[in-house]
Parts: sequence; C-alpha cells; structure tokens
Amino acid sequence: MKKTQDFISNNQQRFLDELFELLRIPSVSADPANKSDVQSAAELVAKHLKEAGADEVEICQTAGHPIVYGEKIIDPKLPTVLVYGHYDVQPADPIELWDSPAFEPIIKKTDIHPDGAIFARGACDDKGQVFMHIKAFEAMSKNGELPCNAKFMIEGEEEVGSPNLAIFIKEQKERLAADIILVSDTGIIANDVPSITTGLRGLSYVEVEVTGPNRDLHSGLYGGAVANPINVLSDMIGQLQDDKHKITIPGFYDKVEVLTEEERNEMARAPYDEEEYKASIKINAVQGEEGYTTRERSSIRPTLDVNGIWGGYIGEGAKTVLPSKAFAKISMRLVPHQDPDEITELFKQYFESIAPESVTVKVNPHHGGLPAVTPIDSKGYIAASNAMEKTFGKKPIPLRSGGSIPIVALFEQVLGLKTVLMGFGLNSDAIHSPNEHYGLFNFYKGIETIPYFYEEFANLNK
Ligand code: BES
Ligand code: MN
Ligand code: MN
Repeated sequence: MKKTQDFISNNQQRFLDELFELLRIPSVSADPANKSDVQSAAELVAKHLKEAGADEVEICQTAGHPIVYGEKIIDPKLPTVLVYGHYDVQPADPIELWDSPAFEPIIKKTDIHPDGAIFARGACDDKGQVFMHIKAFEAMSKNGELPCNAKFMIEGEEEVGSPNLAIFIKEQKERLAADIILVSDTGIIANDVPSITTGLRGLSYVEVEVTGPNRDLHSGLYGGAVANPINVLSDMIGQLQDDKHKITIPGFYDKVEVLTEEERNEMARAPYDEEEYKASIKINAVQGEEGYTTRERSSIRPTLDVNGIWGGYIGEGAKTVLPSKAFAKISMRLVPHQDPDEITELFKQYFESIAPESVTVKVNPHHGGLPAVTPIDSKGYIAASNAMEKTFGKKPIPLRSGGSIPIVALFEQVLGLKTVLMGFGLNSDAIHSPNEHYGLFNFYKGIETIPYFYEEFANLNK
C-alpha cells in the first residue's frame, strides 16, 4: 500500500477541493424543491467514481432519487467489498443558526478539531465520508494496488428512509453479490479513541393528530367547557412514559434483548466522562430510564421522543384561540429484537385507548427500520479493527450506536450480507444540526484507513 498511501499524501488538497464542489450542491432529499440538486449530486458522484477507475458506472433512476452504482472487478476469485453510503443530506433548517452558509463549505478550527474542520451540511453525514471511499479507491486503483473487487452503491434517499433502495436491492441481488458491505456513516469515540460501531437502533416513527371541535374557537367563549386538543395531546404524551422514564405502551419491552452483566460491564469499559458529556451540550443533569447508564440509555435501550409538536397560534403577539387540532411527530428508537411494524401497531392501539371521549385521534405511521448488529468475530469486523489499529496506533473499541441506518438490516435479510460500520465522525460534529462539520483529521484518517481494510479483508479471505 506504499504507492497508494503516497498518492493520498500527494493529493490531499485536490481531494478537499473536489469534496467542496459536492458539498456546494444542496441535495436535500426531503424537499421536492431540491429534486434537480439531488440529481446533480448523483451526477457528480458518478463522475468521480468513473474518474477513480470504476467501470459500469450507472445513475439508476428510481421512483424517487437516483442510486449511483459503480464497480471494478479485477479478479472474480478475489473477495468483493460493497461500499454503501448516501449523497443526500438533511435540510439545513434552521438556517439562521448557521454561522456560515450551509452550502458554502469553509474550514474553521475548533477546540476538538485544532487542525480544522469542514463546515457544511453533509460534511460528515455523509458526503465527506462517502468521498473518503471514492478517493481511497482512486488511490488503490490508479496505483495497481486494489486487493479486492469493489462495488459502490451510493443512494440519495437515506435521510428519508431509503424507500427505493429497499426495492433496488431486491431487484439487483446478483449485481450486488459481495462478501461484505462497508459503510462509513457513523463515528468514533474521539480522535484519539478509535471505535467501530457494532450496532444500530431501529426506528418506528409516527405522526399523531388530535382533533377537538370542528373549527378554532374563541378561548373565552368556549374555553373551560370544550377539550383543547393541545392540552389533551400534551397530557397523552405525558402518559407515554412513567416517572421512572419507562415507556408505558403495553408490550413495548416484551422482545427487548436483555444484555448479560458481562456484556454491560464490557460496555462500561469504553472511556466516557459524564461531566464532559453534560458540558458539551450545556445541560445540568442527564435524564433517562431508571437502572441504566447514559451510554446504555443511548444505545442498548429503546426510547420514545417527541420530535415536533404544533397547533394553534404561534405567530407574533397573543391571539386567544382554542384550536381545533394538535399534532406531534413521535419517534421510537428500537433495539434487537423489537419489530418496527409491531411497535407502531402497539403505539397506535395504546394511543387510541388513552384518548378521552372529547377528541378523536389519528395515528399515521412514517418510515421505520429494523435494528442491526455486527458480530466482533466476523472477518469484516476484524479487518476494520486491524486497519484502524494500523492508522490510529490503537485497537478500536467495539461500541453500539444509538442512531439508525435502517437499510443495514435489509442488506442482511435480502442480500445475506453483514455490514461493517467503520465511520470516522464525532458526536460533536453536529450532524442534522446547524454548523455540521467534519474534521480534516477524520477525513484524511478515513482515506488512509480504507485501503488497509481492503488489504486486511483480502488477507483474511485467502
Ligand atoms: N448517519 C446517520 C445515522 C448515524 C449517525 C448512526 C451517527 C450512527 C451514528 C443517518 O444518516 C441518519 O441520520 N439516520 C436517521 C434515520 C433515517 C431513517 C432518517 C436517524 O438515525 O435518525
Ligand atoms: Mn448518514
Ligand atoms: Mn443522517
């Protein structure tokens, strides 16, 4: 990998300039107004894959946003690495909270990133991390040092639940045949504490609507005698958790995987500082399910959170109104072996059952996803661990993450393939938030580490 690594060192500035061009495209998958931007981002990813040495690069149109596919088969006898990532991004809102425009990438130094970080929507999630793979591949293929066959599947709908990728992988099973799926869309504990994500939570996401009277009412004339949907909704949300922060939906915990004392002790060995945690997000106290640590609450335990709540008058000044309707978006993060469809149904039944007679409620399910785990004795995990040990000088710690990448469970179900989650972001990188950024250290460390993954994986499969 000598030539590959020299090539990477000699092309650092170009890699960054090229990533900046991709970051300037506002490929927000959720907003129909950005449809052509999403298409442009797909075209740019395809162009880079081609230039990096991939054959058969194709922009696969779907009922939604396109999937970019490319591959380089050097020898059918060698193992095949299938790289998955996404070029779509979350909306930049609230834009007024960005210190510099979301789609005008710039480098700024921070306490955590003294060498500088790239500030832009998608810098870390996931354009910057996808780009590491394309550039690592370019370095290996242009220097004749590609140790495995490589396939790329970069989608444009991850942030909206991958509705069309699920169909694509069912239709393209043969084309996607591989030995391992490699994904960089997660993070490490810190730049001097490497880790590999061994689990992702699943997701059940619903929108609820509570309707009272058939129209907005004068809150003086009717208030006190007619149920206010916002008051009712708040009360119903309050009933979804008890005072120990346990979720009260009957059957919710029935299938939750129970970790052994040994597994929990193992988890507790990963470095973690609660004071630092609180300080990093400026809270005075943590809060969560009784009997579990902060780490456990945010990885191996399921949750229920209101993501948004609205209704009534929220404009300037005061308007006296008793609104007709109230709404909320509620997500439940799931752990092995909870099933999102089952949980959504349990939520619906319970939510309807606690509604007072004075209102009607509707529960509309959104996208969901299954949890996933990667065993640490798999070839993929070992290859990632060895590669990171080489570049960080330390053995990475296996760690379950609280986030979700729902398609990972489908990769296993449909393609029969395990996924290695070798991401390089930090929790403090503000993904999905204003001022998202990605460390230059992390970007280059990723590009340096990926070729060693290929090398290690090829050796383990000899
Ligand atoms: N890359 C994230 C998920 C992630 C980030 C996992 C960091 C672990 C560590 C992904 O793009 C994402 O945002 N997923 C969504 C779910 C999706 C269905 C919108 C999430 O977790 O909220
Ligand atoms: Mn992502
Ligand atoms: Mn995301």
